[in-house]
Amino acid sequence: MHLSSLAWALALASLAVAAPSRRSNLVVHERRAQEPRDWVLTRRLDSGAVLPMRFGLAQSNMHKVEEMLMSVAHPSSPTYGQHFSMKEIVDTFAPSTETVEHVVNWLVGEGIDKKRLKLSPSKGWIEFDATAEEAEGLLDAEYHVYTHAETGAQQIGCHSYSVPEDIREHIDLIKPTVHFLHRVPTPNQLRKRSFERPSTHIKSGLKTDGSLADVPADLANCDQLITLDCLRALYSIDYTPVSTDKNTFGILEFTPQAFLQSDLDMFFANFSPSQVGTKPILISIDGGVDQTQDTGFNFNGESDLDLEYAFGLTNPQPILLLQTGDIPEGASFDNWLDAVDASFCTFEGGDDPTQDGIYPDPLPGGFDQPESCGILTPPFVISTSYGQDESSVTAAYAQRQCTEYAKLGMLGSTVLYSSGDNGVAGNGGICLDGDGNPVENGSQFNPDFPVTCPFVTAVGATQVNPGSTVDDPEGACEQVIFSGGGFSNFFAMPDYQAAAVTSFLTNHPPPFSGEQFNNSGVARGFPDLSANGANYVVAVAGEFERVFGTSCSSPVVGSMITLINDARIAAGKGPVGFINPVIYTDKFQAAFHDITTGGNQGCGTPGFTSTEGWDPVTGVGTPNFTALLPLFLELP
Ligand SMILES: *[C@@H]1O[C@H](CO)[C@@H](O)[C@H](O)[C@H]1NC(C)=O
Ligand SMILES: *[C@@H]1O[C@H](CO)[C@@H](O)[C@H](O)[C@H]1NC(C)=O
Ligand SMILES: *[C@@H]1O[C@H](CO)[C@@H](O)[C@H](O)[C@H]1NC(C)=O
Repeated sequence: MHLSSLAWALALASLAVAAPSRRSNLVVHERRAQEPRDWVLTRRLDSGAVLPMRFGLAQSNMHKVEEMLMSVAHPSSPTYGQHFSMKEIVDTFAPSTETVEHVVNWLVGEGIDKKRLKLSPSKGWIEFDATAEEAEGLLDAEYHVYTHAETGAQQIGCHSYSVPEDIREHIDLIKPTVHFLHRVPTPNQLRKRSFERPSTHIKSGLKTDGSLADVPADLANCDQLITLDCLRALYSIDYTPVSTDKNTFGILEFTPQAFLQSDLDMFFANFSPSQVGTKPILISIDGGVDQTQDTGFNFNGESDLDLEYAFGLTNPQPILLLQTGDIPEGASFDNWLDAVDASFCTFEGGDDPTQDGIYPDPLPGGFDQPESCGILTPPFVISTSYGQDESSVTAAYAQRQCTEYAKLGMLGSTVLYSSGDNGVAGNGGICLDGDGNPVENGSQFNPDFPVTCPFVTAVGATQVNPGSTVDDPEGACEQVIFSGGGFSNFFAMPDYQAAAVTSFLTNHPPPFSGEQFNNSGVARGFPDLSANGANYVVAVAGEFERVFGTSCSSPVVGSMITLINDARIAAGKGPVGFINPVIYTDKFQAAFHDITTGGNQGCGTPGFTSTEGWDPVTGVGTPNFTALLPLFLELP
């Protein structure tokens, strides 16, 4: 399939073909978010080099995004739970004919033959191949080649680009331009520690008699080892699903992360024997496979953890494994969004080769089929334990992706992201300098993305404090990892959290200035809620490991929401969808354990401190499932 010709669209419009050059009106549309680390500017791009230019058209009715989402997600809305159809959403937000015309007129006026222009099937993108010289003239940009110091890999990019002032409102972003570096999101610094007990002894114990006789994995030791039973006790989870054929729960993984069936079975044999042999349903996105050529903690840790705990807590709910990206290239957040929303899908016309996997993939062993576009109805719950630094993307890129999460909420999906594992710092503990660039000794906090998008649910991490039991209050996680939290540098505070966040800032003013975080009082705060993220027993590559991370917390919250959806489906209701407007209400506070101790240190500071009420370390707290269920069942 190829991009449809623009001819039909143009027939509708009488084009002004000889528009005067508007170069004098050019205004900067996007500037690179940060200078690339580890990439060296090598040379100016040859003027004859061909660039596959893609112009992302502005969607219509963007002012309605929040209003439509709240109409189905806010508990006081009369239409709560009456989610929209995909068609309603596509029709509402599709770029207008007027927008297509404006952009086409501009390009044609700049001398681009209209026969070279293609419109994507979604009508979201205009595409044409431009020489570097043409692109540079059009966008007042300079393209350079950058070389990766270690691997010699190369990519091209420009530092900023401009468009005519009257075109700005019709364009979200243009690629390839300033979006740099981030092809594969890295798993949140998932950390592990081998059992501190004599590990050979424990392992042989497991292998020989299949029991945990000599492992102190019981309720008395949840401060040292978290198991399914610890979580059930901590969060009062006592529910067996009955609507499994109608319910859906998706776990998102990015290749080369992969699970090993032998690990799941090893975990089940010890902690959930009836599930031995249970497999996830593989949804292959862009050639996503459960690769087994690379194994070990770094390849299997995340997927094994997510599936072992999601399966265990929602038994017997089937689980969809959204395995995204082929082995050579991998994928990004945009790629899985393409798979659940054909209108976002930028088939041959919009994914950014420096950010996103581009399919078909010509690399040896690559996925040689068309990009996975609208292949999947979004599951009711989607848990994702991957993230990148907000500072590594541009505001326009983040905004466009964030709008997609709002649409998933309108459709009735709960989208959960782990909040990051470095406290107020970014991946690798990196913070920002005064200009927002990542530096070793930066003092400005470095929040994660996409958790800062106000239309996802951000999940932070807690711990059973050392020496405490499941009956004692948990604290913020301060072992091995620190719960990602703070305030967005891009996104404004949504109404649903205004009271909670304002109360925090007013009653517990953090000892930091605007130099460290956006303290305006109108920035989006995160996380939204939290769950245990320390000391998980996970079978990985044939061994039990002890695992830490908000990566643990997200699938646990996802499991609880899945159980709630099950009960609602059994009661003839729909899934809960976007939960944030609900969980911040006064009424629901009684169903959360408020976390009031611990902090999320980073950037040479103690970070924020957990306190009464919402805080930017643990959100509104950890769920009490037994209390939460009837409240969600009361909603229409
Ligand atoms: C950070 O390190 C750079 C380079 O070593 C130095 O020039 C700068 O002054 C340091 N900044 C701070 C805040 O320490
Ligand atoms: C702080 O966040 C708000 C809301 O997003 C934004 O309007 C404001 O410009 C931000 N301030 C700074 C200094 O970035
Ligand atoms: C959880 O909620 C239930 C029902 O409201 C309550 O009986 C129970 O004590 C709560 N559990 C904890 C640990 O607070």
